[in-house]
Amino acid sequence: MVANPSILFPDAAGEVPAVSERLLAVNNVNLEYHTRERIVRATHNVSFDVYGGDRFVLLGPSGCGKSTLLKAVAGFIAPRSGSISLDGEPVRGPGADRIVVFQEFDQLPPWKTVLQNVMFPLRTAKKLGRAEAKERALHYLEKVGLAAFVDAYPHTLSGGMKQRVAIARALAMEPRVLLMDEPFAALDALTRRKMQEELLRLWEETRFTLLFVTHSIEEALVVGNRILLLSPHPGRVRAELNSHQYSHDSFGRIDFQRSVAHIHRLLFEETEPAQ
Ligand SMILES: Nc1ncnc2c1ncn2[C@@H]1O[C@H](COP(=O)(O)OP(=O)(O)O)[C@@H](O)[C@H]1O
Ligand SMILES: [Mg+2]
Repeated sequence: MVANPSILFPDAAGEVPAVSERLLAVNNVNLEYHTRERIVRATHNVSFDVYGGDRFVLLGPSGCGKSTLLKAVAGFIAPRSGSISLDGEPVRGPGADRIVVFQEFDQLPPWKTVLQNVMFPLRTAKKLGRAEAKERALHYLEKVGLAAFVDAYPHTLSGGMKQRVAIARALAMEPRVLLMDEPFAALDALTRRKMQEELLRLWEETRFTLLFVTHSIEEALVVGNRILLLSPHPGRVRAELNSHQYSHDSFGRIDFQRSVAHIHRLLFEETEPAQ
């Protein structure tokens, strides 16, 4: 069941920003892993649509299939059944129109400088000439505040800076949808908050389309404009709701706390049958 967002958050009614065209359509997707012993169902009949300029969040507990869903959208895994399409075309494999930023800090080849890391996919996947790739890489590195570190090697950078490089590299590709799998989960709380703010600032500047995975309710409310709640394993859609009214300034506000509590109940309590 997909709950009506205006019922969940009455304040949000009528404030939904005008959306552009549907970019990504995920329809009744079942995802499975086939191990030697058994078949693990990761998601069950999951459907959602992402529109241009959305900051769409997949939120659910660990193991509910968020990463698997993101990998399927990225084209690394094919659905057992159901369909995924981008701009009306079925997703058949990975492509430069969908770029993933992962949680791990080791996603940058260590033998390349920051600039080379960002330039590399522009040269290989986008087929840009050296000068154009360099110009674009520098542009995005400046946007994430790393202009002074273009010649540094990844091992000399903090976790937050490595994630900034990964974000610059992804944005430089100018994908149709930017996919992020808990990109800030391994950072300390202060850096995490700063990165969330930076991501939102970047979004204000370039209005990219984002599909963002997290298990943090607060992060989902702050980062997302729409949130899909997934049940514990195997992931099913619990509800879809609007969250564009929240920012870091909302922390501690009563409506924000109410939304956190409400989502918590939707995620966890309804799954437990009354004793
Ligand atoms: N390579 C794999 N082989 C078998 N099972 C897997 C594999 N990867 C994930 N799973 C299982 O699929 C389910 C969903 O995993 P995942 O998508 O990583 O969840 P999440 O990202 O929400 O924590 C879990 O039960 C997990 O144990
Ligand atoms: Mg995961």
